[in-house]
Amino acid sequence: MLLDTFGRQAVDLRVSLTDRCNLRCTYCMPEEGLQWLGKSDLLTDEEIVRLVTLAVHDLGMREVRFTGGEPLLRPGLVSIVAACAQLAPRPELSLTTNGIGLARTAKALREAGLDRVNVSLDTLDPETFHTLTRRSRHQDVLDGLAAAESAGLLPVKLNAVLMRGVNDHEAADLLGWCLERGYQLRFIEQMPLDAQHGWDRSQMITAEEILERLRTRFDLTPETTAERGAAPAERWLVDGGPGSVGVIASVTRPFCRACDRTRLTADGQVRNCLFATGETDLRTALRSGASDAELAALWRAAMWGKKAGAGIDDPEFHQPDRPMSAIGG
Ligand code: 5AD
Ligand code: SF4
Repeated sequence: MLLDTFGRQAVDLRVSLTDRCNLRCTYCMPEEGLQWLGKSDLLTDEEIVRLVTLAVHDLGMREVRFTGGEPLLRPGLVSIVAACAQLAPRPELSLTTNGIGLARTAKALREAGLDRVNVSLDTLDPETFHTLTRRSRHQDVLDGLAAAESAGLLPVKLNAVLMRGVNDHEAADLLGWCLERGYQLRFIEQMPLDAQHGWDRSQMITAEEILERLRTRFDLTPETTAERGAAPAERWLVDGGPGSVGVIASVTRPFCRACDRTRLTADGQVRNCLFATGETDLRTALRSGASDAELAALWRAAMWGKKAGAGIDDPEFHQPDRPMSAIGG
């Protein structure tokens, strides 16, 4: 098992398959992109499958989520998913994607064994999409969503980040649009993970503000009074249900106490937190012939050192060197 000194157990593995992306979301990347990882730094498909296998067999992972950058840019994605779907016990398999290219691959991913997708979409307006992502690919995302639905990658989930003065007026429109289609929408507070360090706490749209904007059109009631568990989103029933909406208040109401995640970067580093300032190098160990038992021991030690919380709202908070696009969501 993967335990830490605060009694948490990680059962949810996030695997970044590439640090590259075909969008340049302003809250994530600078316009010109970043210095990408070199090919020899990236884990091969076989190396990824070996590490996921040992994480499932020896470390108790129950869920594996593939992320990026943009994971659909990884040529081996379908075969990696297929290999992970053969594992016993079989983990839940999901993908966090910007949706571009999903129209082409949703069916093959479903057939390979993918269970679900989370698609990032912040706006219903193609021009606002261009302002936010610096690319004119809005229709590709909509096509990707439709393909995910018809391929049976259900429920289709959407992630949205609101930026003040850009798309924050669209909160209720986005929710209405998702409810009509049966998509599950979650808003995420903007976190300080952009490569260009442009995050400004005072500009961030807080969960409170998101709810305020939604309540101008919808009646929201807490979905359950039960513990949130490891699910980071707080959920509300919309107009009495069955539709609902989630808000991930990573900054103003962090869920670190219940965190059950461990992360593997595309270059084979274990991170015990999105905001960790240190990493554990599994790639070098793996390439120098380490056994599964040795790799598992390194991974356990990495998680044992997990801090109580990320502390984004603390004055001493330091943004990690590695940006979101190279960690994975
Ligand atoms: N803050 C919050 N969410 C972010 N994402 C990317 N960067 C940030 C950030 N700085 C979201 C993307 C995607 C998921 C992987 O994380 O929109 O939905
Ligand atoms: Fe790409 Fe996702 Fe970053 Fe946008 S948020 S630039 S889609 S990695």
